[in-house]
Amino acid sequence: MTSSHAQFELEWMGGRPEALLRRRRPGIDELPWGTLSPEAFTPAALLEARKVWTNGAFTEYASAAAFTTIAGAFMECGAPIDLSAAAADFAVDELTHAELAARLLMELGGAVPYEVDLARLAPLSTAATPLGRAAELVLKVASVGEALSVPILAASLRAADQPLTRAVLDRLVRDEGPHARLGDWFLDWASERLTDADRRALAEVALDAIAVYAPLWQREPCDSCQPAAAFGGIPREVYRRTMLESVRHRIAAPLSRHGIVLDPVRLSALL
Ligand SMILES: [Fe+2]
Ligand SMILES: [Fe+2]
Repeated sequence: MTSSHAQFELEWMGGRPEALLRRRRPGIDELPWGTLSPEAFTPAALLEARKVWTNGAFTEYASAAAFTTIAGAFMECGAPIDLSAAAADFAVDELTHAELAARLLMELGGAVPYEVDLARLAPLSTAATPLGRAAELVLKVASVGEALSVPILAASLRAADQPLTRAVLDRLVRDEGPHARLGDWFLDWASERLTDADRRALAEVALDAIAVYAPLWQREPCDSCQPAAAFGGIPREVYRRTMLESVRHRIAAPLSRHGIVLDPVRLSALL
C-alpha cells in the first residue's frame, strides 16, 4: 500500500450528497453558526482551542472510518443486520461530527498544521477469524475508545459557555452514548460463540487499547496548556479523574459481565 503524510483537510461536495445527508441528519445548519467571538479570548487560549478542535475533527473522521470497518467486519461474521446497520449508521454520525468540528474550527480561525496519513485511517485487526476480527475491532473502538470519549465530552459540555460550542458539544454527546454501547450489544450476540481462549485474548486487546490512551491521564498536570472552558476545555484534574472512573466503570465492568476479565495487575499499572 502506498501512503503519504499530508496536512489534514476536509472537503464538502454540496448538491445531492449534501441534501441526502441533511435529510438523514437534520438540524446541523440551524446551530448558532457565526456567534463565536474569538476576539474575546487571548491568542494563547485561541491557539489551544484550534489545536483541540483540529485534533477533534480528525478523531471524528477517524471514528467514521473505524465504524465503517466494524460494519464490514460485523457482516463478515454474520452479525444481526440491525446491529451491522447500527455500526454503519454510527459512521454517518461521526462524519457529521467531523463536519461540526470543522465548521467550529473555521470560526476559531482554522486548523493548525496537522499531518495525517489517511491510508492508515482504518483500525487493524490481527485476529484469525471473522468473529475474532469483529470482536477485536469493536472492543478497541467502541468498548474502549468511545467509552472514554463520552464522559469527557459531557464534562466539556458542562464547562462550555459559548452557545455555538455548547450546541456542537450537545450534539456530539447525544450521539456518542449509543456508540459506546456497540461493543456491549455485539457481545450480547457473540458471547455464546466465544471460547474461554477468545475471552482471554479479548481482555488483552482491551488492555492494549487502554494502554494507548493511558498517556492522556498519566502525563503531568499543566495549568497553562488547557483551552478556555468556552471552547470546550476542562481542568486537567477533572479530566484525569473522569478518565480513571471511565476505565473502571465504563470499560472494565461491562466487559467482565461478558466474562472478559481484565488482569487487575496490568490494569492498575495503567491507572
Ligand atoms: Fe463522534
Ligand atoms: Fe462516536
